[in-house]
Amino acid sequence: RVLRGRPRDLAGRKVVVSAGGTREAIDPVRYLGNRSSGRQGYALARTAVARGAEVTLVAANVTLPDPAGAKVVRVESASELRDAVLAAAADADVVVMAAAVADFRPATRHEAKIKKTDGEPEPIFLAKNPDILAELGTIRREARAARTRAGGTKPPLPAATVPDPAAAGPDLAGAATGPEPAAVGPEPAGATTGPESAAAAPELAVAGPESGDFVARPERGAYPEVIVGFAAETHDVLANGQAKLARKGCDLLVVNQVGEGLAFGTTDNAATVLVAGGDPVEVPFGPKEALADVVWDLVAARLP
Ligand code: CTP
Ligand code: CA
Repeated sequence: RVLRGRPRDLAGRKVVVSAGGTREAIDPVRYLGNRSSGRQGYALARTAVARGAEVTLVAANVTLPDPAGAKVVRVESASELRDAVLAAAADADVVVMAAAVADFRPATRHEAKIKKTDGEPEPIFLAKNPDILAELGTIRREARAARTRAGGTKPPLPAATVPDPAAAGPDLAGAATGPEPAAVGPEPAGATTGPESAAAAPELAVAGPESGDFVARPERGAYPEVIVGFAAETHDVLANGQAKLARKGCDLLVVNQVGEGLAFGTTDNAATVLVAGGDPVEVPFGPKEALADVVWDLVAARLP
């Protein structure tokens, strides 16, 4: 479907949209999942392409057709979604977390299919997943603070922004499957003296007064300027939403009520967009593309 009549106000902007719902493996054939269809995230990706953006769509278990013009990265688990989003966010202007990310994963992933036995089933213990949206907010806050402190010299990138597949982050260290991931330690991510950063730097280094030893990616947008979250609430929708907006440190939080056939898996929904430092915007019941356009209007207004 061709989307017409939209402003090209996202031309030259890189946006990352996560969509769908993560699956957390219990054993090779079973998972914990959720009912997210990915429709809202796909509508966001389609409309962003129509408005001129360069779009990376991180899709968790979505069966919809790929939106034309977007780069689609397929993931399954929250851990994979985190790696893909943080990597793409490193040079993005905007990140929209429309995916339903599992809050918990089975603490142990059984290597073999769990068999039915005569006795009672074993319990499934859960471990907490990292909160990707909150992490993005933290990365941005720390990067801005470091920039201010550095007063014009290139600040070190926060540890969490360095996409290193071997370092899954402290929260993921509990995964009972693979070897212990290398911890992202408290030492400054820059480690300018280390051989690795020296090897990684040359190609991506940008010339200019700000380029220094820490340049591991282009200067433009080492963190996203605008961060958008979604919140599905079943009760106390606005109060829960306001608290969540503050807790996650994002700019916009799209809150909709779920349950009883609302939002998940439907083609239409209604929502309230909470705006950090501004008034909420009500979006009446309608197609997910209409809600997507309201989000992009608000995003475009916040881009420098
Ligand atoms: N989110 C995330 N990482 C998680 C959980 C959620 O990035 N581990 C993001 C979602 O993509 C969404 C936002 O956070 O944009 C809000 O998700 P929601 O589930 O409503 O918030 P939670 O903080 O998980 O709170 P709760 O589920 O307890 O309501
Ligand atoms: Ca949640």
